[in-house]
Amino acid sequence: MTDKIKEKANLKLNGDLYDFDVHEGTIGPDVLDISKLYAQSGKFTYDPGFTSTANCKSTITYIDGEEGTLLYRGYPIDQLAEQGNYLETCYLLLNGELPNQDEYTKFEETINEYALVNEQLNRFFTGFRPDAHPMAIMCGVVGALSAFYHDSLDINDPEQRRIACHRLIAKMPTLAAMAYKHSLGQPFMYPKNDLDYAANFLNMCFGLPTEDKNVDTTLAKAMDKILILHADHEQNASTSTVRLAGSSGANPFACIASGIACLWGPAHGGANEACIRMLEEINSVDNIPEYVKKAKDKNDPFRLMGFGHRVYKNFDPRAKVMQKICHEVLDHLGIKDDPLLAIAVELEKIALEDDYFVEKKLYPNIDFYSGIVMKSLGFPMDMFTVLFAVGRTVGWVSQWNEMIEDTSQRIGRPRQLYVGSEHRQYIGMHKR
Ligand code: ACO
Repeated sequence: MTDKIKEKANLKLNGDLYDFDVHEGTIGPDVLDISKLYAQSGKFTYDPGFTSTANCKSTITYIDGEEGTLLYRGYPIDQLAEQGNYLETCYLLLNGELPNQDEYTKFEETINEYALVNEQLNRFFTGFRPDAHPMAIMCGVVGALSAFYHDSLDINDPEQRRIACHRLIAKMPTLAAMAYKHSLGQPFMYPKNDLDYAANFLNMCFGLPTEDKNVDTTLAKAMDKILILHADHEQNASTSTVRLAGSSGANPFACIASGIACLWGPAHGGANEACIRMLEEINSVDNIPEYVKKAKDKNDPFRLMGFGHRVYKNFDPRAKVMQKICHEVLDHLGIKDDPLLAIAVELEKIALEDDYFVEKKLYPNIDFYSGIVMKSLGFPMDMFTVLFAVGRTVGWVSQWNEMIEDTSQRIGRPRQLYVGSEHRQYIGMHKR
């Protein structure tokens, strides 16, 4: 990881002067290194939500929120989604470079080899109610992988780390499909090595052992692109959760389970599900103005799901690709007048012209269209965030591995601005 110290920044506090190195990365804003601030001045910085804080150096993903740019290892997301495939993207994120044919073939074989899960894991599923949210199941069964694969738990061994990363990428679709099949009461489908990653996932979700149905290649291609679009997104909430969990030395399966738990929230990966629920609630194009008004009302907690982003103050570049996939899938399925799409298109148009959304730079994010695509592929709403988790696993493991390799890495331990009671004496209950 290369960065250079560009200049010094000064801070004057109570007459004392402190110097900080200003680091310059490859692209993006310069970063002030304040790691010695407390030791030198006895002061902390305060930054709720980490809006101005870089937690690490990273070579994996770059976002320019003002421009609406997203690069994986330097490659623009739209090029990878249009011209590449998901496994190639996984290799890129993990290793830093796109694979040549031999490297790709070997990588695909490795992922296929790890796609099965230990048969004993099947029994975990019977412990879950059929109406359990699949993200609840995923939190449990992914964490449970650490109870099965003891030979890839030593985080200080690069080979064991590599195996754990491959296992997680390979087993996530299998577990996600099992969670779905459990909700239907249908038998689990084993992975098939002659199918590519996305087609295999669709087959495990929608296939049955009683019939030999071919996976629709257009839909498999759309699934593949969805996974690419979700593969990584810099230091977002779930990735930061994975890094924080991993900073204590926790094993990779436990770390990824913590990422899944964080992703579930409606302000993060749960937004795709929340977005479809919102479109259904709006119900008709005629009701859009009423909902836009609600979204703008400070006293109303309602927000337009699929709008706004912490980093993007422009179109989310993934939303553009997702919008295209949405039209391709609906055209392919012969769905001419999808009512939710009609509401989404009109809502996007109105919101993009509305002063409130324009001034606050609230643009559609990836979740705005992804729910419609996932629904068209045949997934129920509560599986949407699971699909996000399947795609994001490679990002989580790549970032986790990068963190372990970083020699400056220490346990993540934020401090606080304490505003509670001062020191006081205990009073017995009879005197309170
Ligand atoms: N609808 C209406 N108003 C909004 C919306 C929205 N979707 N998003 C932000 N705002 C408003 C806020 O009320 C706030 O207004 P104020 O300045 O008058 O108080 C202002 O815009 C800034 O919003 P914050 O919540 O401070 O921005 P933050 O960066 O913390 O949040 C977030 C970003 C969580 C994505 C937010 O925009 C949101 O809740 N969007 C809807 C949920 C969603 O789509 N999440 C998916 C994110 S993408 C992903 O995880 C893949």
